Amino acid sequence: MQYRRLGSSGLQLSALSFGAWVTFGGQIPRGTARDLIAAAWDHGVNFFDNAETYGNGAAERLMGDVIADLRLPRDGYCVSSKVYFGAVDEPRPTQRGLSRKHVTDACHDALKRLRVDYLDLYYCHRPDPDTPVEETVWAMDALIRQGKVLYWGTSEWSATQIREAHKVARHHHLHAPTMEQPQYNLLHRERVELEYAPLYAEYGMGITIWSPLASGLLTGKYNAGFPEQARLGRQDNGWLRKLVIGEPEQHRVERARRFTALAAEFDVAPAPLAIAWCLRNPHVSSVILGASRVEQLLQNLQAIDLLERLDETCWHKVRVVAA
Ligand SMILES: NC(=O)c1ccc[n+]([C@@H]2O[C@H](COP(=O)([O-])OP(=O)(O)OC[C@H]3O[C@@H](n4cnc5c(N)ncnc54)[C@H](OP(=O)(O)O)[C@@H]3O)[C@@H](O)[C@H]2O)c1
Repeated sequence: MQYRRLGSSGLQLSALSFGAWVTFGGQIPRGTARDLIAAAWDHGVNFFDNAETYGNGAAERLMGDVIADLRLPRDGYCVSSKVYFGAVDEPRPTQRGLSRKHVTDACHDALKRLRVDYLDLYYCHRPDPDTPVEETVWAMDALIRQGKVLYWGTSEWSATQIREAHKVARHHHLHAPTMEQPQYNLLHRERVELEYAPLYAEYGMGITIWSPLASGLLTGKYNAGFPEQARLGRQDNGWLRKLVIGEPEQHRVERARRFTALAAEFDVAPAPLAIAWCLRNPHVSSVILGASRVEQLLQNLQAIDLLERLDETCWHKVRVVAA
């Protein structure tokens, strides 16, 4: 495993981390969840990502349960939560968003579900148009001063919104956001590569990126249709399929087909190749992996070896072929 600093902070995260979205508290049984966390840990993963909204808290409960069961040393791993969407169906106004109340309640609930005394990373899962950014920055700063959170950050905030949070923090001498959690993969590059470009040096911002495989599309598993047991083929995930594949449907699938053909030319599996491509961006502190089976995770962890194996010409081809 490789370890990278979270932006300019002193926290060293594994370059490949592991997240719970869709899988934990829904798709997979407890035994698989336990095997996945154990395999990740055995391969040097030290960051496990979660959110209040994943399975309405069930993902955090399951992750907390298996981490406790595996007796991972608390000083050896980092765990995150994210606040915004709430953890109940049809949340009331105080059960969602980034008000001081919900940010505080959600933190306390995540601590209980994950069975920890503090969250290593705590993200604002989306910007909240109904809460002044000052209120959220003060709330995050208070949680840090209380020892309940170590680093706070944002997820899918615009560069302008991130700047605003830094301005408030600087003005009042509060803890500023350390990291952002954006989507980043071969099919979705603009925000990380263009919009955020000035922020890395300006604020020492780190990024922990999500959906490196575009929900599996870059593995080639959807090249010839949508298998029922795979994420984008499952009946209850129709909304997600629309979101990931977009319109017109053929275009993104065609890009994935071209990419997987190139991977075959290099004689490597497409999944670790797509993940390694994300890792080549020096601003990426950690690539958050998702997996529904241990075999997938083990294959994806091979991304680290590919960094050395392929030369610049190959990486250029990868970039061009998926464009
Ligand atoms: N901040 C945010 O807004 C946000 C949003 C989304 C995710 N996240 C975080 O980022 C993490 C990763 O995102 P993601 O799950 O979308 O990542 P991803 O790598 O794009 O997709 C993971 C899914 O692809 C399939 N897959 C993975 N490896 C495979 C392989 N080698 N071969 C075939 N299929 C494979 C599996 O689904 P199936 O087996 O079911 O097909 C797996 O669950 C999440 O767990 C979450 O922690 C954050």
